[in-house]
Amino acid sequence: MKLVTEENITDLAVERWSTARDPRTREVLTALVRHLHDFAREVRLTEAEWMAAMQWLTATGQISDEKREEFILASDVLGLSMLVVQMNNRLDPSATPATVLGPFHIDGSPELDFGGDMSDGLPGTPLYISGSVTALDGTPVGGAVLDVWQSDADGVYEAQLPEIDEARLRAKYTTRADGSYCLRTIAPKGYAIPMDGPVGDLIGRTEISHFRPAHVHFLLAVDGYAPLITHLFEEGAEFLDSDVVFGTKQELVVAFEEREPGPTPDGGKSDVPWLEARYDFRLQPA
Ligand code: BEZ
Ligand code: FE
Repeated sequence: MKLVTEENITDLAVERWSTARDPRTREVLTALVRHLHDFAREVRLTEAEWMAAMQWLTATGQISDEKREEFILASDVLGLSMLVVQMNNRLDPSATPATVLGPFHIDGSPELDFGGDMSDGLPGTPLYISGSVTALDGTPVGGAVLDVWQSDADGVYEAQLPEIDEARLRAKYTTRADGSYCLRTIAPKGYAIPMDGPVGDLIGRTEISHFRPAHVHFLLAVDGYAPLITHLFEEGAEFLDSDVVFGTKQELVVAFEEREPGPTPDGGKSDVPWLEARYDFRLQPA
């Protein structure tokens, strides 16, 4: 019998987890054991610190529900989400870059027509975002679904408002045969990530800025092309270079240009000043 020592415990645990029947599960779990043990050795983890970590994980699970994704938030602020996005979306340099999904996406948004208003009368400056979806060679992609969501003018998402049970600032738009799309919303605001849970507790012990720059989220899907999860950020927005979840990319920063009352890109008309952003999404083949 091999007795356990501080020196051999890592090998013993790796050996045990290498019995996983699925090869990828074996690879991931044995590497996890090695790295966790190395981490504990490197920082000489105390029992009190280990217990604090277990309690932090428990609290992270306890505060999570179908609208609050505290584990995703933890992964985001640690830079893990964005690392996984980068490794798995090594896109052609001419394709629109991907960024984090974040914890506030809600499935099943209502479908709106070209120029449909997903803000539905909420207070804020009208913002029209229009452009096209194309393949890398510029071929228009018709029938692409743009699933769009954002915070309100106070920086709050529907997912953070428990009393809301109908879609708020989220909708799906489908590109026309020429690849064009147009959506109407209100200007988003930069916001603080939720700070009232275990992630906020950790961030509060650092000098880390807990804000995200103003942005609109997009999830693009259409047959034959790789799905794209991304954002558009407002040019000149505060926190662009300190995004707490490492999500900003230069190619995703667009001007929100001020327009006088008058014709709008959907063929309609605005009676009040409005903002216009233009963006052409370029998708990679599947
Ligand atoms: C978001 O943009 O919705 C988001 C992303 C990561 C963490 C928190 C919020
Ligand atoms: Fe967001």
